[in-house]
Parts: sequence; C-alpha cells; structure tokens
Amino acid sequence: MRTSTRAACVIGYPAKQSLSPKLHGHWIKRYGIDGDYRIEEIAPEGFEAFVTNLAANGYVGANVTMPHKDAAFRLSQPDEKARAIGAANTLWLDGKILRATNTDGDGFVEALDASAPGWDGRTENAVVLGAGGASRSIVYALLSRGISRIHVVNRTRAKAEAVRQSYGDSINSADWDEVPKLLANTELLVNATSLGMLGKPALDIDLSPLKDSAIVSDTVNVPLRTPLLAAAEALGLTSSNGLEMLLYQAVLGFELWFGIRPEVTREQYDLIAADI
Ligand code: ATR
Repeated sequence: MRTSTRAACVIGYPAKQSLSPKLHGHWIKRYGIDGDYRIEEIAPEGFEAFVTNLAANGYVGANVTMPHKDAAFRLSQPDEKARAIGAANTLWLDGKILRATNTDGDGFVEALDASAPGWDGRTENAVVLGAGGASRSIVYALLSRGISRIHVVNRTRAKAEAVRQSYGDSINSADWDEVPKLLANTELLVNATSLGMLGKPALDIDLSPLKDSAIVSDTVNVPLRTPLLAAAEALGLTSSNGLEMLLYQAVLGFELWFGIRPEVTREQYDLIAADI
C-alpha cells in the first residue's frame, strides 16, 4: 500500500549508532510533517542497488555516511560542491534523477558562525589536521569563506599534497612535526582526523603555542568533549564540536526532502547530546 508519508534515511555501514534519526525526527515532530527518517545499514556490495532504486525502496532522499560517500558521488548527478570535494553526503530525487551534494563543509562553517560569530573576518591562517573526506569538505568551505592560507597537516603527506593540488596555492601541505610552529600563527585549528574518537588514540598535541583568540574545532562527535576540546577549554579558547557540525550539515537535506528549512536549536542539541 502506498502512503503519503515522505521518508528519508541515513545509509552507512555500520549505521546503527547514527545520531541522524533523532535529530531529523526532532524536526519532523516540531514542524508537524508527515515524514519519517530511518537507518539503512547497507554493506558496500549492496549500496549501488540500494541507491539506484531509492524510490522503490520507499525514499525521497538520503544521507550517506561511511564508507559510502565516494560511491554516492559516482552513482549520482553531483552538484558543483560535491564535485569539488569528490564525495557526497546528501542525496535527493529530482523526478527520476538522483542528485547529490556535500553539506559537511556547510555544517562546519555554520557551527562556527554560531559558536564564534564573525570568525571568518578574523581568520587569515587555518590549520586543518587530516586529509580525508572530512578535511576536503572543510578546506572547500574555508576557501569559500575567503580564508587566505590553509595548512593541511597529514600523517600521509601525499594525501595533504593531493588536497593542495585540488584546491590551489592557498593550501600548504605540512607534516606533523611542523604543527607547533604553525599553531603560533593560526586563528583556527581543526581536527579532521579520526583521532580522539571513541576507541581511537587521542590527538596528542600541545595547544599552548595558540593565541588566546584562537578557535579550536573538532569534527569528532563521540565523545562530545574530546581530549582536544578539553585542552582548548582549559586554555580558555573558543571551541566548536562535532555535534554542532552534524546538526548544521543536516539542515539542507531536511529542506530538500521535506520542504521546510529547519532551525538548529539549543533544545535539539541538548536532546541529542544526552544520547552521546
Ligand atoms: P574521513 O572521510 O572521515 O576524513 P578518512 O578518509 O579515513 O576519513 O581520513 C581519516 C584521517 O585521519 C586521515 O587524514 C588519516 O591520516 P592518513 O591519511 O595518514 O591515514 C587520519 N588518521 C587516522 N588515524 C590516524 C593516526 N593514528 N595518526 C594520524 N592520523 C590519523
């Protein structure tokens, strides 16, 4: 039986721990929408069949998370932003066409807009740790906000160099041993590695070279208060966490699927944070 309920999902592998159903479910209820948002745990070998039959599977769109962001990009019609990043996290059906974008970078800059208003006007130099998909979306978003110098630091230098080659001369690729020197001259430090995530080693860097006005941002959202953010707080620095980013990256998908641009609120943040 067909119903009028519009449904979206998050596709990942694993996906059971995803926070997205709760955050979208909060908006569905708040705006009184006849909608649903579910988890679809799909192994890599099943991903193509699932997304190329998204409507038949009951969905108007989807979020895509690990490890499917590259495949989502390849199997869809990506917009300019997803093409620049080379990965997609948000899919929607436009008639029969499967379109894609990448909102991870938007989530990152909008979380900073909320926690450190005017940050972009004060930031000339940024240091981004990591050179995977999260890093690429953040570097793209920083460039779109006019940040003139971005140092991409990565364990595997070749990947940082690949980011520089994609995005041009505003990017400098660097090694970990250069971090203390880079920190002394940066207004924004971002962790876009998986270090600090539950079950992974902590990100062990000394933040003392940072200026008092520097901002520290962590893409990790479990735990909410990573050792990096705890160290930033201890120094009295402004910080932004991975849950704030997750909430803001979700806004555009919700609007595309359900037709209302939702508002990120403190109440919603507290609701999700209570589960972490
Ligand atoms: P995502 O799409 O979330 O960015 P990813 O592409 O797997 O995930 O990237 C993970 C990032 O964390 C990479 O920059 C990785 O460094 P490498 O490119 O050298 O692998 C970084 N990372 C993961 N574990 C690390 C560790 N133990 N030490 C340093 N960097 C690490």
